[in-house]
Amino acid sequence: MSDTPRPPSAALRYLVVLVVGLIAGAVMTVMAVRAIQERRDPFPESLMHVMGRQSQLLRQSQEQNRCAGADVLPRLQTLRALSNDMDLAFPDLRDDARFQQHASQFRATLNDALATPPADCAELGRLNEQLKSDCRACHQDFR
Ligand code: HEC
Repeated sequence: MSDTPRPPSAALRYLVVLVVGLIAGAVMTVMAVRAIQERRDPFPESLMHVMGRQSQLLRQSQEQNRCAGADVLPRLQTLRALSNDMDLAFPDLRDDARFQQHASQFRATLNDALATPPADCAELGRLNEQLKSDCRACHQDFR
């Protein structure tokens, strides 16, 4: 009888294969998720998120009774400038007439508001409602 070490038990070998398999699976999942994220263009969602924050700031101004031009105009100017990039952000939608109609309605609301900025909080309230319904109109059709 030689005293060669006993081969590892079958259970231990299965365990090692299982652990290696789990680690390889986890690494490959992370790599796959990264690859998918890199392929997706972050621009459209980023544009919408910045527009969302600007609208939220306008509502906050209204709630805090800070409805003067200095609080409101920079937000409106930013929204107006961002609205120019909607065609760029949604190239698949830009030839859709309804998308254009919603985008122009949104720009028109902002043009009016920039030409005649809200004079008090009641007017800012009405503007915020109008903006909300402009956002919603497009989202109902395209989001
Ligand atoms: C002319 C069309 C249009 C207008 C106007 C519009 N949106 Fe959007 N919005 C979209 C589309 C299309 C999506 C879907 C984007 C996607 O999932 O890729 C979207 C998605 C969003 C999202 C979700 C982004 C995400 O993470 O998927 C937010 C937030 C948003 N919009 C905010 C706003 C706000 C706030 C306004 C108004 C101030 C607004 N949008 C006006 C077309 C519009």
